[in-house]
Amino acid sequence: MISIKNLKVNVWEKEILKWVSLDFEIGKNYLLLGKNWSGKSSLSSVIAGNPKYDVVGGEILIETGIKGQERPVSLLDMAPDERSKAGIFLSFQNVPEIKWINLWEYLRIIYNIHLKNTKPESSEITPFIFKRFIKQYLEEFKIDEAFLARDLNVGFSGWEKRKIEMLQVKLIWPKYIILDEIDSGLDVDAFKTVAELLAKLDSPNNTFIIITHYFKIVDYFKIDKVYLLEDWKLKKEWWMEIVEEIKERGF
Ligand SMILES: Nc1ncnc2c1ncn2[C@@H]1O[C@H](COP(=O)(O)OP(=O)(O)OP(=O)(O)O)[C@@H](O)[C@H]1O
Ligand SMILES: [Mg+2]
Repeated sequence: MISIKNLKVNVWEKEILKWVSLDFEIGKNYLLLGKNWSGKSSLSSVIAGNPKYDVVGGEILIETGIKGQERPVSLLDMAPDERSKAGIFLSFQNVPEIKWINLWEYLRIIYNIHLKNTKPESSEITPFIFKRFIKQYLEEFKIDEAFLARDLNVGFSGWEKRKIEMLQVKLIWPKYIILDEIDSGLDVDAFKTVAELLAKLDSPNNTFIIITHYFKIVDYFKIDKVYLLEDWKLKKEWWMEIVEEIKERGF
C-alpha cells in the first residue's frame, strides 16, 4: 500500500498540494481525476521523487514487499532510484527525450537492477542473452529492433514513446504504476493497442493509478476507487459510478 497523509507541497513558494490524504492498496486500481491544474501530475511527480517539488508537510508510506522491509517505509526519505526499486513507475504526461542514453543499454541496465533487487541471488543477464530475451517483447509490442540503437525516446512518436514505457513495465514489473494521461495524443488504434497491452499487465500484485480526462481507458481496467482532486486537495473519494455523472455534468 502507498499511504499519503496530510501531504503539503510547494513549488517555488507556491502551494500546489494542500493536505492531501489518500491510500493506494496493492491489487486495486484507481482513477485520479480533477480539473486542469488541480495537481494530479504534481502528486505523481512527488511520489516518483522529482526534486523540483518541495514537500513541506505530511508523509508518504509505502509497503514494498521487499524482504527485510515488512513494515511500511517512508517514501519521501528515498532517492528516485530507490523508489523505482520499491516498485514505483511513472508513465509521464510528457515523456522526456534523453540524449546520449542508448535505448538498448537503458533497458538492459534497468532489467538487471530490478532483477538484482527482487532476486538478489540471480546473476546479471549478459548482453547476448538479453538480446534474445528482449526480442520476444519487441515482437509482442510491435517495436522494430532498429529502435534499440537509438537514444531514449529521442525523435520517437507519441505512440512509440508509450510503447517503450509499456515495455519497461513488462521488464521490471513495478507494483505501483501511475499512468498520467497516456490517452492524450494517441490515435484510436494506437490507444487501443496500448490500453490492451497495459490491461494484460494488470494483476493482484500491482496497482494502476490512472489519470485521465477522457475515461476511455477505464473500459480496459476494473477501477476500485475514484479520487477527485480539487483546489489542490482531495475533494472526495468515490466509486466508479461517479464517472458517468462527471462525463455528463462535469466536475
Ligand atoms: N515545476 C513547476 N513549477 C511551477 N509550477 C508548477 C510546477 N509543477 C506544477 N506547477 C503548478 O502546479 C499546478 C498544478 O499542476 P499539475 O500539472 O500538477 O496539474 P494537473 O492536475 O496535472 O493538470 P492537467 O490536467 O492540466 O495535466 C499548476 O498551477 C502548475 O502550473
Ligand atoms: Mg497533468
